[in-house]
Amino acid sequence: MIELSAENMIQTLGDWVRSHHCAQLNGSHLGAQVCLMGWVQYRRDHGGLIFIDLRDREGLTQIVFSPEANAQAHQEAHVLRSEYVVAIQGLVRNRPRGMENDSLVTGRIEVVVQDWKLLNTSRTPPFLLEERVDVSDHLRLKYRYLDLRRKKMSQNLKLRHLGLQSIRNLLNDQGFVEVETPVLTKSTPEGARDFLVPSRQNPGHFFALPQSPQLFKQLLMISGQDRYYQIVRCFRDEDLRADRQPEFTQIDLEMAFVQEDQVIELSELMMQELFAATVNTPLQLPFPRMTYDEAMETYGLDRPDTRFELHLQNVTDIVKNSQFKLFAQADLVKAIRVEAGGRLTRKEIDDLTAFVKIFGAKGLAWIKVKDDEWQSPIAKFLNEQEKQELHNRLRLQSGDIVFFQAGSPEIVNAALGNLRLKLAEWFDLIPENRLDFVWITDFPLFEWDQEEKRWAACHHPFTSPRETDLHLLETAPEQARARAYDLVLNGHEIGGGSIRIHQADIQAKMFQALGISGEEAEAKFGFLTDALGYGAPPHGGIAFGLDRLIMILCKASSIREVIAFPKTQKGTCLLTDAPTEVPTRQLRELNLRLRDKTA
Ligand code: AMO
Ligand code: AMP
Repeated sequence: MIELSAENMIQTLGDWVRSHHCAQLNGSHLGAQVCLMGWVQYRRDHGGLIFIDLRDREGLTQIVFSPEANAQAHQEAHVLRSEYVVAIQGLVRNRPRGMENDSLVTGRIEVVVQDWKLLNTSRTPPFLLEERVDVSDHLRLKYRYLDLRRKKMSQNLKLRHLGLQSIRNLLNDQGFVEVETPVLTKSTPEGARDFLVPSRQNPGHFFALPQSPQLFKQLLMISGQDRYYQIVRCFRDEDLRADRQPEFTQIDLEMAFVQEDQVIELSELMMQELFAATVNTPLQLPFPRMTYDEAMETYGLDRPDTRFELHLQNVTDIVKNSQFKLFAQADLVKAIRVEAGGRLTRKEIDDLTAFVKIFGAKGLAWIKVKDDEWQSPIAKFLNEQEKQELHNRLRLQSGDIVFFQAGSPEIVNAALGNLRLKLAEWFDLIPENRLDFVWITDFPLFEWDQEEKRWAACHHPFTSPRETDLHLLETAPEQARARAYDLVLNGHEIGGGSIRIHQADIQAKMFQALGISGEEAEAKFGFLTDALGYGAPPHGGIAFGLDRLIMILCKASSIREVIAFPKTQKGTCLLTDAPTEVPTRQLRELNLRLRDKTA
């Protein structure tokens, strides 16, 4: 027998035309002559027959090479290996009784080969493309094009596409016009660091990649465009997490002549369309609303996961005169009671203590309730009355554990808010398949920037204060409320927006309150304040994090699972190796010189 060499067998497509995709054929095609093209998922030799599972984006079809149907084709099929690319022509027939696979759409049929072509070979993939095989993230990102061949990834991309189409359709129907805004632009303050692009034509000058199209969409409202949307890439140089990427996609929109409720209602319709089109899930409208204060009080975070209780409880009043100085002197003391949580070990409690330290906590006080006893490093500091009141307030029962955090509201809320999420995971408290949407409203206009020692905008500096709070900008900025709203789904902030300032004088006051001097405001945002002077209509809008939405729809644990070519935790692309060094010549053209790394 002559040794077959796959390389010598490669052929061109010629006049072969694909007739079906690999998830299309079923009992209604019996006897049909078909032409399929795709990749070899598996090859199995069974006695006289060779089987392959042929894969394309849509699915798998079983292909049979039999010596009776075509002896040479069967002989040549011995060269086939995983991921080889083939075209086959053949006849659709029923699988033999007992060989059906009802987990496949095509599981009742097979295609028996009359003729086939090898279109390309493949090196052995660095990992198996089967769904159940665990592969390191590093390999998956380096060979992303192989990773994307896997069914789950393909499905994620498809769902993203369907979601986008449904949103586009809805917005088009609602009179929105899609307008593109520049990528090479000026810094927009959304709270992250900018990515800068040096300008060759203007030495020493830089573009910033947009953190969002915020200012341009406001300019479009001033331009009379009335209803704008854009599916747009945004760039933010910030520390990455599971739901953060340095470049991500927003569904960005803006409407003229509206109040909060109109933006909120339209957003709800969008969510309804999106969930119907992608996962066929009807959503109950309207979504509940919660004030920022309520969210912070009960959940410690402004993106509350309302799928489970485990509420934070304020016990400041009970311990304010305590002998326990740590509690008595704190601005705020809050507790979380975990029913039947007393089984946590010392080691586990130590791990939780280390965890809350990430959020600025100095420690984590706890008590375990066992019958009428408290096992706790802090029990000895509390008197009988305090214990009794805590017992009543927290409705303590034998077997519970309670965690306490004392300190500034920022640290107490961040530490316990995040601890709450961690405990829910540990104690498996999050119900599956639940979708909890909640609007967060009545945000403060400002937050104190500890590093810079000045007020910063809680959303962005173009967010309108409540009309009744205008006077507070100068007198008591901490009390001023914003006309802003965030949409939260299962504890993820999936969207945020506001009614904007549309009057130049109020915008100027806002900059003043933020400690931005007239000159600086002119230099950074002069074009906006100018534009506000030419008949700016009242307007407002919102932007949704598309990646986060699709992540939740796909039940994925990171937005990387729904982005075709994402970055790593360190902000690099393992596939292309970007960012890379560049030749000195290129730097010179840009009028740049690198600082000596050792300096
Ligand atoms: P905001 O900054 O809240 O608002 O962004 C809107 C939404 O974008 C998503 N998002 C991200 N997703 C992935 N990776 C990131 N790094 C990331 N950062 C934000 C979130 C967020 O809710 N111009 C305003 C919108 C407006 O006021 O209309 C803005 O950008 O889901
Ligand atoms: P100490 O008296 O420092 O040993 O602290 C007593 C207990 O309180 C320890 O379990 C600490 O982890 C915990 N603890 C320390 N700081 C805080 C804080 N700010 N809030 C809650 N518990 C704390």
